[in-house]
Amino acid sequence: MHIFYGKVALIAYLKTIKSTNSTLGFVPTMGALHQGHLALMQRSLKENNDTVVSIFVNPTQFNNLEDLEKYPRTLEEDVKKMRGLSDKIILYAPSVDDIYEGNTMSQSFDFDGLENQMEGKFRPGHFNGVGTIVKRLFEIVSPTNAYFGEKDFQQLQIVKKMVEKHNLSVNVVGCPIFREENQLAMSSRNERLTPAERKEAAIIYKTLTEAKEVFKVKSPQETIEFVENSFRNNERFELEYFVIADESTLLPVEDKIKDKNYRAFIAVFVNSIRLIDTISLN
Ligand code: PAF
Repeated sequence: MHIFYGKVALIAYLKTIKSTNSTLGFVPTMGALHQGHLALMQRSLKENNDTVVSIFVNPTQFNNLEDLEKYPRTLEEDVKKMRGLSDKIILYAPSVDDIYEGNTMSQSFDFDGLENQMEGKFRPGHFNGVGTIVKRLFEIVSPTNAYFGEKDFQQLQIVKKMVEKHNLSVNVVGCPIFREENQLAMSSRNERLTPAERKEAAIIYKTLTEAKEVFKVKSPQETIEFVENSFRNNERFELEYFVIADESTLLPVEDKIKDKNYRAFIAVFVNSIRLIDTISLN
C-alpha cells in the first residue's frame, strides 16, 4: 500500500500511474474507518483502475471546538483495515499545513440555498468548510469518480452542486448507508458512545421508519409532531431537528405534492455526541 503525507509526492506518483483510459476513484474520509467507509472503498476499487483514500480531520468544517478535539484519530488502525481490504489503495494522510499552507480558512460558497437547511442551520460555516476541503482534495487528486455516503445526504447534494457550479470534471457517486446490527447508521462518532448508548441509539432509525409509515397517511406537520413526541420524554436522547424536505431542493415540505421525492432528516444528541440519519419517504 502506498502512503503519502504530502501532496507534492502524491501528485507526482499519480502522474506515473495515470494513462489515457485509466480511471481513478477517490474516497475522502476523516478516518476512524468503519464498514461504511470500507464499502465505499470496495466500490471504488471495483469500478476504477486505481483508488485514492484520504484521511484528514478537516478543522474548517467543525463549528464546535470540543467536537474537533474529540474526533477520533486512529491512523494506525485505519491503515490496518485498508491493508485488509486491498494493498492497491493509495492513502493520502496530509497534515493541516499540507492542505491549508498556513491559512486554515474556509472559502465562501453559494450552493443555491442547499447550505441553509438542517446541518447548515445548526452548524454555521460547516458547508463552507466541507466545500473548501472537498474542492482542494479534488484539485490534488483529480479523480474520475468520487464516492460519498448517503448518511450525509445534504453533504452529497452540496458536493454535486459544487461540482456543477465550478465545472469540475469528477463524477460524484452516492452510496447507500451502512448500518450496525441494531440499524444505527455507521459513523465514526459511534465510537464515542458507551455500549448502552450505542444499543439504545437504535431509537433513531426505529423512529425514522415509523415516521415513514405515519407520513404515508398524515401531513408533514403531523409526522413532525409524531417524531417530536417520540423523543419528548426520552432522557438520554435529545432531538435537535427532524425535517421532512424535498430531496432535490432540501426545502422543508409543507404540503405533499404527488410525484415529488421526499426525505426525512434527523439530528439527535446523546451525552453531547451528535448523531444524524436520514430516510427516503418514497
Ligand atoms: O464526510 C466526511 O467524512 C467529510 O465531511 C469529508 C467529505 C471527508 C470532508 O472532510
